[in-house]
Amino acid sequence: MAQGRRIAIYGAGYIGLVTGACFASLGHHVTVVDIQQERIDMLNAGRVPIYEPGLAELLRDHGDRLTFTVDGRTAAARAEVVYVCVDTPPTVSGDADLSRVWNVVRVLEGAERLQAVVTKSTVPVGTGARIRAALDGMGLVAVGYGSNPEFTAEGRAVGDFMNPDRVVVGAADDATARLIAEIHQGVNGPVVVMDVESAELTKLAANALLATKISFANEIANLAEAVGGDAASVLQAVGMDHRLGAHFLNPGLGYGGSCFPKDTTALKTLAGSAGYHFQLLAAVIEVNSLQQRRPVIRLKEALDGLSGRTVAVLGMTFKPGTDDMREAPSRVIVGRLLAEGATVRCWDPLAPDVSGAEPWSATTRHHSPIEALQGADAALVATEWPALQQVPWQEAAAAMARPLLFDGRNALDPAEMTAAGFTYLSVGRADLPPR
Ligand code: UDX
Repeated sequence: MAQGRRIAIYGAGYIGLVTGACFASLGHHVTVVDIQQERIDMLNAGRVPIYEPGLAELLRDHGDRLTFTVDGRTAAARAEVVYVCVDTPPTVSGDADLSRVWNVVRVLEGAERLQAVVTKSTVPVGTGARIRAALDGMGLVAVGYGSNPEFTAEGRAVGDFMNPDRVVVGAADDATARLIAEIHQGVNGPVVVMDVESAELTKLAANALLATKISFANEIANLAEAVGGDAASVLQAVGMDHRLGAHFLNPGLGYGGSCFPKDTTALKTLAGSAGYHFQLLAAVIEVNSLQQRRPVIRLKEALDGLSGRTVAVLGMTFKPGTDDMREAPSRVIVGRLLAEGATVRCWDPLAPDVSGAEPWSATTRHHSPIEALQGADAALVATEWPALQQVPWQEAAAAMARPLLFDGRNALDPAEMTAAGFTYLSVGRADLPPR
């Protein structure tokens, strides 16, 4: 086990909490800071504000090494290492909003025990250099600066953190690089050391390439729909080439979530402000936004218009295994269904109560898929929840006004669905009428 360090983590969101819990499990003394009092109160009461498998157990088992507070200044004064894990949402112009990062930097003034400030938040290339200058300006000249980007995926973040493909450490000096590597002792993965700018760019480049694979898969799927062929078979065979890899080649409704939409736009904007037109990435983003609109077009065709029709949307979160609704494709789809005059009935096992938010306020939420499907003219699978495999589909088809199903995630078995009586539409293969 690593020598226990005093680490202050700013941001009690998905990244901050997972990082804090995992560092505590490695033997460090961790203080997690957040500006939301309510969030901190919940954590202090032993409740976890987000759903992430394994996180609640880690927080409980290592609670003696974890503190939660809104007092960022005191946490900084006691810390040897500060981790910046706050969110950096996109601004209207597409670049990252760094205001929360700067709020953290400000409370570091006078932090006497501090040895390093490390950023995990995804930031534009060059941010580290600006933070470095700010630290120098506050007299924290001897404090090292590092970039340690996060590559964990939601729903498997604890496992990804403890068993990463790599830990990327960007630092300007060897001592800081060594310190960041040292606090990861016990993490099962190679440490790759580079300069700060390279680490910042690695994060954006990795997400951009993953997003590119998804958009490519979606384009092949759309092409297969036009010229014939089964995209799933094609992409599986393509992905078996080890130079390409099988992951992130599943066509569907386009990518969503807190990272890909934000990071692809941020990288494109960053490139643009440096005078470089990142053409490939611009196309990746465009393909993704068109992909989210395709199900609406196809349902409109199949139903001969959407006005007055009822559509059941199965799945609301951006992917299964999470309660995260950020940039969920379902949101775009539901918004457009409503704009076309459809009535929308929703089901999701984990999505939080969003009934007060656009566009969900104009929809109804149901406890089970079969309840949502009652009387509907069409069903749309927007998130591939495992629970969908357990739906009695024959009963479901009978409960609908018309048994039409668009499987936006290719999650269900086409033969089974047609046998259950559905007209089955999916992504990247021929539509199947009921048997
Ligand atoms: C992603 C990256 O995987 C992670 O490394 C990074 O740190 C943060 O962003 P996450 O957003 O949690 O993680 O979700 P991920 O599982 O990667 O899925 C992102 C989106 O892409 C989802 O909407 C998913 O449905 C979609 N996707 C993924 C596809 O449409 N096809 C695929 O083949 C894979």
